[in-house]
Formats: sequence, structure tokens, C-alpha cells
Amino acid sequence: MTALPEKRFPSTTSSADRPLTLRGVVEADLPELHRLDKEAFPEEPYHYFELRQAYDVHADRILVLDDGESLHGYVLFVTTSDGYVNWIKSLAITHDLRGRGLGRRLMLEVLRRLRAEGVHQVRLTVEPTNAAAITLYRSLGFDFEGGVHKHYFGPGEDRMIMTLGL
Ligand SMILES: CC(C)(COP(=O)(O)OP(=O)(O)OC[C@H]1O[C@@H](n2cnc3c(N)ncnc32)[C@H](O)[C@@H]1OP(=O)(O)O)[C@@H](O)C(=O)NCCC(=O)NCCS
Repeated sequence: MTALPEKRFPSTTSSADRPLTLRGVVEADLPELHRLDKEAFPEEPYHYFELRQAYDVHADRILVLDDGESLHGYVLFVTTSDGYVNWIKSLAITHDLRGRGLGRRLMLEVLRRLRAEGVHQVRLTVEPTNAAAITLYRSLGFDFEGGVHKHYFGPGEDRMIMTLGL
């Protein structure tokens, strides 16, 4: 498939000081994407087949941060069939590059694209204890929808739902 337009951020480099590129995922990224996802979500990573299927169904909805040798972040976002609502399904930055504005960078790019597409609302779920993610989403304007949604992802898997109107 054709990669989405590239964006380069020369001031933001990988741990090996290589410049990072924000681009659309390509098929060859899948093993790296799987590694990155396992690093970010060690307790409940996606299975490889789930990433494969996500790629097959909506590759244009996966953006990655690439230093030319490895991936350092990704976001997966999917719009409902009516075109009005988008769910941020996953967002991750490798440990070594957290706190440098990359998560915000990915989210801002997603929100820019969704505004251009006329999406009305962005939704996501987050663990109630995930302070870094909640602070990031709050700073982007997301609000909580209700309190803790008990067992949202099954027994013991509570989540907060956050929403942003575009
Ligand atoms: C959540 C995550 C994507 C944030 O990415 P990041 O690149 O480190 O975040 P940024 O550097 O862009 O930070 C953006 C804002 O988030 C908040 N933030 C980031 N890390 C934080 C932390 N450890 N504690 C509190 N707030 C934090 C800050 O408001 C920050 O803005 P500021 O730097 O202007 O103060 C990253 O921590 C991660 O991959 N975590 C593991 C996977 C995960 O939990 N994903 C989210 C699932 S819902």
C-alpha cells in the first residue's frame, strides 16, 4: 500500500539520535509494531494476528514513529461506520522516548486528520490508574464520560471513558 504523507521532526530524535518520521504503517512494519505493542502493554499486548487484521482492515488508521531502523510509537484509531465517531484504540511510545512530546504529537496528528474528515467526536478508554495517559488526554481537551466503568473489558478490567468533541 502507499504510505501516508511523511512528516519529519528533526528536533525529535530517537535514542540513537536518528530523526523520527511520522508516517502511515506499511506491511513490513508488522513485526516491529508487535514488538512495540508488547513493550508498551506487557500484560495485554495485541496478538500478532490482531495487528495483522487491523492492518488488513484499516492500515490508513495506523500511524507510526520511525527512526529508520525501528519504531518508537504508534497510534491506532478507527471511525465508526456512520463516520461520526472515532475511537482511539491504542497509543504507545517506547519507554526510552517517553516524556518528549511524541504521544502528544501522534494525538495531534490524529485529531487534525479527524477534523478534516468531519468526525464529530473522539472516544477512548483508559485505565483509571494510567496517570500519564489521562494527563495527556486531559491536556488535549478530553473529558471523562461518567466515572469508572466497572469490568468494561471483562472481569476486573475497569476503564474510564474519555471523549472529545471536534
Ligand atoms: C501515555 C503515553 C502514550 C504518553 O506518551 P509520551 O510521549 O510519553 O507523552 P508526551 O511526552 O507527549 O506528554 C504529553 C503530556 O502527557 C502528560 N504526561 C506524559 N507523561 C506523563 C507522566 N509520566 N505523568 C504525568 N503526565 C504525563 C503531560 O501532560 C504531557 O505534557 P507536558 O509534557 O507538556 O507536561 C506513554 O506514556 C505510553 O506509551 N504509555 C504506555 C502505553 C499507554 O498507557 N498508552 C495509553 C493507553 S490509553
